[in-house]
Amino acid sequence: MTRSVGATLPVDAHAIRTDRLLLRPLTEADADDVFSYQSLPEAVRYLPWPLRDREESREHTLKRAGFTRLANDKDAIILAAELPGPDGEPGPVIGDLSIFLQSAVNAQVSIGWVFHPILHGRGYATEAARAVLEFVFTEIGAHRVFAEVDPRNTPSVALCRRLGMRLEGILVENEIFKGEWSDLAVFAILDREWGDAR
Ligand SMILES: CC(C)(COP(=O)(O)OP(=O)(O)OC[C@H]1O[C@@H](n2cnc3c(N)ncnc32)[C@H](O)[C@@H]1OP(=O)(O)O)[C@@H](O)C(=O)NCCC(=O)NCCS
Repeated sequence: MTRSVGATLPVDAHAIRTDRLLLRPLTEADADDVFSYQSLPEAVRYLPWPLRDREESREHTLKRAGFTRLANDKDAIILAAELPGPDGEPGPVIGDLSIFLQSAVNAQVSIGWVFHPILHGRGYATEAARAVLEFVFTEIGAHRVFAEVDPRNTPSVALCRRLGMRLEGILVENEIFKGEWSDLAVFAILDREWGDAR
């Protein structure tokens, strides 16, 4: 099956409900919640982000809040993962997910994620990333979705595998990341594989 992302672009970010989470466009008002995990060394260890102070984090969140539409290559959508209260009232943002349009003509999309460490191990990232994959395949019309992961980032590798993503290969010491030569694993899933996994 061949599909073109171009056929369904532009795509605007919108809210997506999962069993336990509300995924919705990140806003400037989320800056303090984002800072609560962006300020932790363990959260940013494998992210291409430095450790930020509150003001730097706020500026970063403000910039990322502007990423709400995919129309051209390198456009991005950032979705905040909000944990609503027991009665559905607004809750804190506990993580966020990034969607990058890598190639419209080839229908290639990449995704990334970060969740607050105090809430790891409860399946929130899996739940959110599954919903994001569904959005990316059904609304954007992606053919292939990939994630680039440092192989030492065991939780992220495990998340890729839980999502049904295949290890396509490992680039060995392809970049100096945070001061040391690092490998890069590429995990991916095709639209037909997502259909089967569902
Ligand atoms: C990558 C990251 C999001 C994974 O978080 P996580 O907590 O391991 O993932 P989940 O929220 O899906 O939780 C999965 C765990 O919860 C368990 N779990 C509990 N309830 C679950 C449910 N309903 N569904 C799925 N898993 C569930 C799973 O068994 C798994 O446990 P395990 O780690 O003991 O195997 C997190 O480590 C992170 O934010 N890291 C920092 C940022 C980062 O490095 N990003 C990636 C850059 S490439």
